[in-house]
Amino acid sequence: MKPVRRHSREPDSDELAGLRARLDESQETLRAIRGGEVDTVVVAGKQGPQVFTLQGSEHAYRMLIESMNEGALTLTADGLILYANQCFARMVALPLERVMGSSFDRFLLAEDRATLRPFLKRAGKSGSKVQVRLQAGHGSQLPVLISLCGVTQKRLTPPTIGMVVTDMTDVRRTEELLRALTHRVVQAQESERGRVAIELHNGITQILCAILFRCQALSAGISAHDLPSKREAIQLREMIGEAAEEVERISRGLRVGVLDELGLVPVLRATSKEFADRTGVSIKLTCPRWTGRLHADFELTLYRILQEALRNVEAHARARHVIVRLKRQNGFVYLMIADDGIGFDPDHRSAGQKEKDGLGLLSMRERAAHMGGAIKIVSARRVGTKIEVRLPLPTTKRS
Ligand SMILES: Nc1ncnc2c1ncn2[C@@H]1O[C@H](COP(=O)(O)OP(=O)(O)OP(=O)(O)O)[C@@H](O)[C@H]1O
Ligand SMILES: [Mg+2]
Repeated sequence: MKPVRRHSREPDSDELAGLRARLDESQETLRAIRGGEVDTVVVAGKQGPQVFTLQGSEHAYRMLIESMNEGALTLTADGLILYANQCFARMVALPLERVMGSSFDRFLLAEDRATLRPFLKRAGKSGSKVQVRLQAGHGSQLPVLISLCGVTQKRLTPPTIGMVVTDMTDVRRTEELLRALTHRVVQAQESERGRVAIELHNGITQILCAILFRCQALSAGISAHDLPSKREAIQLREMIGEAAEEVERISRGLRVGVLDELGLVPVLRATSKEFADRTGVSIKLTCPRWTGRLHADFELTLYRILQEALRNVEAHARARHVIVRLKRQNGFVYLMIADDGIGFDPDHRSAGQKEKDGLGLLSMRERAAHMGGAIKIVSARRVGTKIEVRLPLPTTKRS
């Protein structure tokens, strides 16, 4: 093979202009890559065009943050906004340039500023979450969940705080719907109990009483010589008497009239005594310095919660002792029911366990929440269960 000599020559002006244009284009591409405006580069190669994704650049993160359906910000520890995405600007109904550089406090109500402050201080150490309301322009407020974390960048001193702001409007709406639904279930349960109580009392109890009298007459008519038949008739009469008493007990538990007549404390005492007699579980009820009456709704709430708690003790706890304490203090009514049974884990129940759960705990919570109060359930395996109810004391007392 013969070597071919290449002759070097000066490029003409057209070639120079072409080269210059390509250089300008390359420089522009590089600038766009550095600025994050480009996420993919296509290079013509021998095997056709090759596609390079710009991994490692900040571009992907920026794209992610801008396309998020949540507000994303970086702040100084004092709450000055260094960066915010468009979504956050939409949340507070302001143009982005008026958001960046301003204080995050301006978007919060006074009490929420105080709530957020310690979280901002702690954010550098560990991630944390807090719920606040955002001033969303035109006087409207947006319930949001703020997730905070420290953004450690060595270049930046002092360190900045990363914040993700999630709009909780839909979550709140769903929670409210759920609560309204639970309340309707509890109300329906209450009216159904009333109906069943009347039917038991007026129907079954009356029938059982009639059978009892007939049985009495029957046993009186049996000759004393026919001892086995007489004994059988007496036993039958006793069994019918017990059934009538049991039906009356159930009916009493379902009715609220008795609460109205006797008042909360005597009814709690009667309920506790009946529970202890029937189940053999000892129960100690204390109501220190309790006088007067509460509004009917509060008395019913406390009575139903005690009933539900005792029902759970009987059904699940395998307890030997129960302590019930009712007290008033600093404008609140407190009811505590503690058992020494097998306990359960109220916070970490498997989906399967939750599916089997009934309405007891749910209705207790709903009843307390409906009266503006709350319930705390403390339970641990082999330790027992403690239910603490706290209701704000009604201002209007009964005589
Ligand atoms: N005092 C208790 N001791 C042990 N476990 C309990 C106690 N109270 C509740 N539990 C557990 O919590 C679960 C939920 O209780 P909840 O009262 O909500 O429903 P339930 O008793 O199963 O059904 P329902 O009350 O509708 O008859 C129970 O199934 C039981 O496993
Ligand atoms: Mg129950």
